[in-house]
Amino acid sequence: MENVVPLTSIAEIAEVIGRCQSIAELESLRVHWLGKKGILTQALQGLAKLDPEERKRHGAQLNSWKAQFLELLDQRRHLIEAALLEQKLIRETLDISLPGRNRGRGSLHPVRQTLDWIEGYFSGLGFEVADGPELEDDFHNFTALNIPEEHPARAMHDTFYLEDGRVLRTHTSPVQIRYLESHQPPLRMIATGRVYRKDSDLTHTPMFHQVEGLFLDENASFADLRGLLADFLQNFFDRSDLQVRFRPSYFPFTEPSAEVDVACVLCNGTGCRVCKATGWLEVLGCGMVHPAVLTMAGVDQEKFSGFAFGMGIERLTMLRLGIPDLRLFFESDLRFLRQFS
Ligand code: FA5
Ligand code: MG
Repeated sequence: MENVVPLTSIAEIAEVIGRCQSIAELESLRVHWLGKKGILTQALQGLAKLDPEERKRHGAQLNSWKAQFLELLDQRRHLIEAALLEQKLIRETLDISLPGRNRGRGSLHPVRQTLDWIEGYFSGLGFEVADGPELEDDFHNFTALNIPEEHPARAMHDTFYLEDGRVLRTHTSPVQIRYLESHQPPLRMIATGRVYRKDSDLTHTPMFHQVEGLFLDENASFADLRGLLADFLQNFFDRSDLQVRFRPSYFPFTEPSAEVDVACVLCNGTGCRVCKATGWLEVLGCGMVHPAVLTMAGVDQEKFSGFAFGMGIERLTMLRLGIPDLRLFFESDLRFLRQFS
């Protein structure tokens, strides 16, 4: 046997295999012994030259070694693979005691907070929240509101015109008209949304938000309008002693009309840059719905009357929070916004 394979016992091979540390080492060992030109392979091929007696003896011995060798290789392979897996698991362990990564919590924009509050207030009084398009046609934004073409009141609105004749709505009042197209009094509705004007300074931005209100009922009067808006403003500013002033004004779609000012909270009414030294800031326009608008909407004026109002949300918000420049709302500066989360 010694001259067939340089091995005295399988124990020798077992020891070599036991020293292997990697799958690659095992593989080269397998090739060394059992590859095409491997030692055992050649010994097995050499059996053919032996006489039958010897071939039988050596053949049995060699095949037994081959089987044991393959078995040992297999066992070692499993051990190495298990060790590799173990290492990998240790390397990839999750430390669940590590502090989590902070994703930061967002918050509602102060303008959104005001809109939500206002919608809540009026919903509680039975007002339906309606909606209308920001790209508006000339009819709804002007004509139906008693502002015919060439009417000087069109100049009150610094309008953005589109080439097709439509406009970026200059106020939320067109939603009154749209609502009246599908509703009959008695009715109460508010509409909130963006409006656009060519306007920019401390208290004006080219895009801002308005809330429109429309109230039509039997015997609705200007006193009801005053009472409602005074209650709204006192609740909104959370001050029962809030100074509110109704100032006669003009809107083509209301008669009589008024604008409502509140005492400037930044200077307590003594006069500052924001209120242009007047001590007051205008927050809304309002009035009794004009007969021409009611006629156009087909409302029975023998029976119903009503009022409408439109307020500036940024104005109200800046006054409530004491913010000196309305443009801050639209600069997306997190240092500013985080103060109101
Ligand atoms: C109107 O827009 C009327 N549609 C309001 C109205 C509705 C009157 C229903 C009668 C009946 P006025 O242009 O005044 O009115 O604007 C209303 C409010 O929007 C103002 O009081 C002010 O608070 C706010 N506002 C006006 N222009 C700007 C602007 N450029 N930036 C921010 N707020 C503004
Ligand atoms: Mg005004």
